[in-house]
Amino acid sequence: MEEVRNHQIVLKHYVNGFPKETDLPLVTSSTIRLKLPEASTAVLVKNLYLSCDPYLRGRMSKTQGSYFNSFTPGSPIDGLGVAKVIDSGHPNFKKGDLVWGATGWEEYSIIKTPDALFKIQDTNVPLSYYTGILGMPGLTAYVGFYDICAPKKGEYVFVSAAAGAVGQLVGQFAKLSGCYVVGSAGTKEKVDLLKNKFGFDEAFNYKEEQDLDAALKRYFPNGIDIYFENVGGKMLEAVLPNMRTNGRISACGMISQYNLEQGEGVRNLSHIVGKSLRMQGFIVTNYFHMYSKYMEMIMPLIKQGKICYIEDVVEGLESAPAALIGLFSGRNVGKQVVVVARE
Ligand SMILES: NC(=O)c1ccc[n+]([C@@H]2O[C@H](COP(=O)([O-])OP(=O)(O)OC[C@H]3O[C@@H](n4cnc5c(N)ncnc54)[C@H](OP(=O)(O)O)[C@@H]3O)[C@@H](O)[C@H]2O)c1
Repeated sequence: MEEVRNHQIVLKHYVNGFPKETDLPLVTSSTIRLKLPEASTAVLVKNLYLSCDPYLRGRMSKTQGSYFNSFTPGSPIDGLGVAKVIDSGHPNFKKGDLVWGATGWEEYSIIKTPDALFKIQDTNVPLSYYTGILGMPGLTAYVGFYDICAPKKGEYVFVSAAAGAVGQLVGQFAKLSGCYVVGSAGTKEKVDLLKNKFGFDEAFNYKEEQDLDAALKRYFPNGIDIYFENVGGKMLEAVLPNMRTNGRISACGMISQYNLEQGEGVRNLSHIVGKSLRMQGFIVTNYFHMYSKYMEMIMPLIKQGKICYIEDVVEGLESAPAALIGLFSGRNVGKQVVVVARE
């Protein structure tokens, strides 16, 4: 029976402030048998692709009362990924199945609650897409835009962190809905992508703007109907006075706050009252029941070439810590994926 040494990414200690690569060392574990014990109901997988997601930063801190659990210092971390079943004690899975869902940041994982895994049915697309457009970030863009914002043709849409996993899709969904859409991102390369690849009407580099309020007035002289919020902080404060009456804000994420020990204040929330705004947060895991509906919409769009999707792919588990940390400096261009193995 084959036994291998498993390589794993471990959280060294709880993190305060900006995370460093050294917070997430690569270790070699004791051996793991590539066969489950007789009575096991678990699934043993070989991990293929790991998804770098901003929420993982929260799990690196000692948090209480959050919607996610903190990682345990000294133990391997986990997240979302694409994997191949090597052995299964669960009736819904068999050897050779491809799955996406919660798995370890390691080469091989034993998944004790496989009910939460999605079986991959369509392999006529890159498998890595199940970490992004066909996985959690894709569903996030879908729910956060269509469900929370209820867009109407001709509305004015603003998306922050627009060149990332979620943002690039929101912008394209807005165009498919007949909206005018502007995105913000942190480099010229990303701004070019937004305008020339993803079809945003306009885009700007927020790092080059002295006055975010003035930048928004330049691109939205008539105001914003829908703000897809990915960053929070100063950007939210600049957006609020530029919202139109009855505008909607989908509070998807606030990445600018994740590494701050003390979050920034937003001083002009009274615009929510005066402009009758609706600002709604959401957590995508509460919408997984909509996944099949989302797949019915997105798969034909991908196959007909009506939606484009960019990934930033790094090779090897050893590259994973830098890739994850890179999300917080904007190093990634598109969805950040780590290749652990190619089947
Ligand atoms: N609610 C949910 O269930 C849910 C699910 C998934 C994701 N999210 C949230 O959605 C947002 C986007 O996630 P994603 O996976 O698509 O990540 P991503 O956009 O692919 O990567 C993160 C990007 O955020 C930008 N960023 C980093 N620090 C920033 C700062 N201080 N100020 C402004 N921008 C900053 C960087 O782009 P620039 O180069 O443009 O700075 C970076 O590339 C995050 O806030 C995430 O937490 C929420």
